Amino acid sequence: MSDDPTGATIEDYLAEDRTFPPPESFKADALLTDAEVYDEAATDREGFWARQAADLLTWRREWDTVLEWDEPFARWFVGGQLNACENCLDRHVEAGRGDRVAFHWEGEPGDTRTITYADLLAEVQRFANALKGLGVEKGDRVAIYMPMVPELAVAVLACARIGAPHSVVFGGFSADSLADRINDASCKVVVTADGGWRRGKPGLLKPTVDVALADTSSVEAVVVVDRIASSGGDVETDMTEGRDHWYHELVAAADAECPAEPMDSEDLLYLLYTSGTTGKPKGIMHTTGGYMTQVAFTHKYVFDLHPETDVYWCTADIGWVTGHSYIVYGPLANGATSVMYEGTPDTPGRDRFWDLVETYGITILYTAPTAIRTFMKWGVEEPQKHDLSSLRVLGSVGEPINPEAWVWYHINIGGERCPIVDTWWQTETGAIMISPLPGATTTKPGSATFPLPGISAELVDNDGTPVPKGGGYLTLTEPWPSMLRGIYGDPERYQETYWSRFAGRYFAGDGAKVDDDGYTWVLGRVDDVMNVSGHRISTTEVESALVDNAKVAEAAVVGAKDDTTGQAIVAFVTLRGSTEASEEVGAELREHVADKIGKIGRPKTIIFTDDLPKTRSGKIMRRLLRDVAEGRELGDTTTLADPNVVEEIRDRAAAGA
Ligand code: WTA
Repeated sequence: MSDDPTGATIEDYLAEDRTFPPPESFKADALLTDAEVYDEAATDREGFWARQAADLLTWRREWDTVLEWDEPFARWFVGGQLNACENCLDRHVEAGRGDRVAFHWEGEPGDTRTITYADLLAEVQRFANALKGLGVEKGDRVAIYMPMVPELAVAVLACARIGAPHSVVFGGFSADSLADRINDASCKVVVTADGGWRRGKPGLLKPTVDVALADTSSVEAVVVVDRIASSGGDVETDMTEGRDHWYHELVAAADAECPAEPMDSEDLLYLLYTSGTTGKPKGIMHTTGGYMTQVAFTHKYVFDLHPETDVYWCTADIGWVTGHSYIVYGPLANGATSVMYEGTPDTPGRDRFWDLVETYGITILYTAPTAIRTFMKWGVEEPQKHDLSSLRVLGSVGEPINPEAWVWYHINIGGERCPIVDTWWQTETGAIMISPLPGATTTKPGSATFPLPGISAELVDNDGTPVPKGGGYLTLTEPWPSMLRGIYGDPERYQETYWSRFAGRYFAGDGAKVDDDGYTWVLGRVDDVMNVSGHRISTTEVESALVDNAKVAEAAVVGAKDDTTGQAIVAFVTLRGSTEASEEVGAELREHVADKIGKIGRPKTIIFTDDLPKTRSGKIMRRLLRDVAEGRELGDTTTLADPNVVEEIRDRAAAGA
């Protein structure tokens, strides 16, 4: 069956191995249309980034040195001073653009708010004063645990305004995960909400904060946004006297003016925790000048932003790095008009995204392959219910996009006229690193194409020898402005994790291949990090959560290929002597992990086995388990003890697989 108005099928596209040059109509108005910018950056990389910093940002004090590089520690725009919030808000308002919409916000129940740059600046100043009133000073860390409401962006920007690094924790994380993150950074204040709407129901957050705070000692105050209560939800929120404050009361009482704190270029802007190969999440550190330079640069040129006319929507949650860089800092620095949406794509119907595109006339859409594959499953009828002709650029992020999903996106969402930018980057890189430039790059479905101007990437083999063509480990060979500055409180771990595997190179943890035309195809993680629906989860973290349950003797977790979510979490579990494997125990363990980590860590399948295959040195042979998991029809819940699995594992271990 054809999904294409022209009659072509996805198979036709795939079979012809087609490439997609930027359409002439697109090039006519594109910001960049040729390769000149790559040459410019290659000739003088530091000069190139310095020009971007000067063009795209407003500095209180100019820098003395563009880059100080003492591998692996980088300092960009040293001596320069600026404030990230001022760059996102004040300067647009001062330039007479205060009436421009910063966010068209839509709640899941359908309530809406239109927030201009002037509105946002006013609210941020008040909330910044409220934070100061709670004792937050420059350098103090503030945890933010919120649904996708405008106050989340306000809280982030208010922190930046007063120089208090924020640590946003995704609202889907558990109380334990929240407590760990609060403790690691000794956060002084937590900003949260009573909850947020998800699939028509209130998803409560404040009770989770209360549980988390029982295990923390640094928090002096909690600020609560009344999202559910103010939108007709029936919720009673417990407020602890002297500690908890309603957001709206603080803001109403706060002074209207709060000058932005001048920050050094290398002052900490935020921490964002991400999973590594060990059980303990890492607090990735991002600083101010270099980060703001690269997010503004990439947001402008990768999406070909025309801020006067574009309506941009990044569907991520601000709890992830994509939301930090491409909902808050990049778009606002560039004076863009964005859409922000609270809920899920299937509420009230499976056409919610396309309804939003039509309603707001969205021109640039940035989403994830897992979402695209879900839309494929839901069928073309959903997007076909709406006029999507406003769209002109489509983006993808979070995991490799399979060519089939790419072509579906191209035909059914982009109407075959919108360039697709497949953007590779990480929490650690802070901003997009490998991506097409939509007016300049001929794309191939499934390839992130080339490193951006000013970025140097190279594949290497196991010994660190460069691989110009073929498969290898993806490394970055030169420092870049928005690179992580380290892991909070653990400089050695920073060195060890990213810079020790290959001398003189940052190792990203991904495998990739470069084809005959020099295009990069990112294949996915080669370490013990899983990628489920574009979210990073470490196998060790899930294993630790499982063995934390008294019934579990041993657990091994793998990410098995999944048609919708990219990978799915499969856990092989050995139970303690007295416990019998059963559907109930499986369900209990899955819930246990959800309680410990959050729903994103919950295994899709648990396979009970009598033993686990190990190397002689006692290391679990995960690759073999993955083969076993991928070779099976996986249920959504529990796969009961199955002698064949155990046998298969044993046989294959014996055969040295
Ligand atoms: C994966 C998200 C292929 C990759 C911005 C990386 C991708 C990890 C792509 C980072 C892409 C992200 N193609 N793989 N376009 N984008 N990845 O830190 O494995 O949540 O290492 O940052 O996602 O995930 P993180």
